[in-house]
Amino acid sequence: MISRPRGTRDFLPSEMEKRRALEMIFRETAEKYGYGEIKTPVFEHLELFTIKSGEGIIQEIYNFKDKGGRDLALRPELTAPVTRMVIEECHSMPRPLRFYYFDNCFRYERPQKGRYREFWQFGAELIGSNSPLADVEVISLAYTMLLKTGIKFELNIGHVGILRDILSGIENQNHIMRLIDKKDRAGVEDYLKRIGEVDVLDRVLSLIDTSGGIEVIERAREFTGKSDDIDHLELVAKYLENLEIEFTIDLGIARGLDYYTGVVFEVYAEGLGAQNQICGGGSYRLAHLFGGKDMPATGFALGFDRIAELFSHTSEKKSIIAVISVPGYEEHALKLASRLRERFRVITDVMGRSVKNQFSHASSLGCDYAVVIGMKEIETGKLTVKNLQTGDQYEVTPEEFIKNLNGMET
Ligand code: HAM
Repeated sequence: MISRPRGTRDFLPSEMEKRRALEMIFRETAEKYGYGEIKTPVFEHLELFTIKSGEGIIQEIYNFKDKGGRDLALRPELTAPVTRMVIEECHSMPRPLRFYYFDNCFRYERPQKGRYREFWQFGAELIGSNSPLADVEVISLAYTMLLKTGIKFELNIGHVGILRDILSGIENQNHIMRLIDKKDRAGVEDYLKRIGEVDVLDRVLSLIDTSGGIEVIERAREFTGKSDDIDHLELVAKYLENLEIEFTIDLGIARGLDYYTGVVFEVYAEGLGAQNQICGGGSYRLAHLFGGKDMPATGFALGFDRIAELFSHTSEKKSIIAVISVPGYEEHALKLASRLRERFRVITDVMGRSVKNQFSHASSLGCDYAVVIGMKEIETGKLTVKNLQTGDQYEVTPEEFIKNLNGMET
């Protein structure tokens, strides 16, 4: 038996129905904010991701050489591809650009609950503005999308500029940011003590410990000093409060990817175990690294699979009609099925089953009606119809049958 690759999944119709319902919630919300859907290739030049996505992601990349010897990679995320696309395709489009995507990503990670090698992100990018209003817009979009799913979640907001400012001048800043991202407090302490930066250590630890309501921003000012970054974060927080968006300020949010420059945010949900982060985002600068003009941008990606796990969806009952053919009358059955399919969901026999077995198959599928077509039906012009839910059986013309089915349309 050939099984699916580790860390990948198959989705059966019931799961797909739930996922599609969730996707529709996200799409509708993104459209309401004026975002348009985009699509980029599943694979890109490896370099696109190694330039700035962070050590973490490089180890996790699915990369390969194609037959022409080019180094390619399956996308581990979509922010870098979207930025590349904007540089290549969107010169003359008015700013800001508002894009959303729903696509699969690939990361060579150790699979566990909620962590896959192929997973889906629903994301949005707002490109061209570094205003606090841009941060507010994307945070509000992510928050609204999640509210509409009905799941319970917590939004945390920080600012990597404030963290990086404290670390400025220190070698291997990205390494420390990664330790902070992993909440590895002991690792941060060890590293900064080892390189003799005890003063910086005190300030970093104070910052990591700064979390709470909007008032903690003022407290943070005391040990970080006044800065545009703190003012920016405060403004974002005020706008969000005004929108009645619930959040916690957490100045220890470092994010796992290296391209963030400003406000960052993460959303966590209960009931997922260790992999409880369902959204990550923030403002970033990438375009100048890919040969474009420097441009500010902000965005986020929702971890679709993790949210789907928590999302409860009651599937609507789908009415199905089984057209049952008496052996030899398959052509008539096909014709009738085509006619009925203009409005209803219809199945026909493709297994060469007897009439009796077609009936039991229709029952086992939960079909609502079985409609028999054979010599008698052709001669009388009436169909034999059995309501499989009630057991009632009667004869009607095709027109009457269709008329009686009002409300069963797909
Ligand atoms: P990220 O935090 O790496 O950010 O990924 C976003 C979300 O994808 C995570 O919060 C998580 O829910 C989900 N996720 C990540 N890895 C896996 C996995 N192996 N299995 C299942 N779900 C996973 C980004 O990718 C950024 N591009 C987000 C962004 C957009 N920042 C600005 N714009």
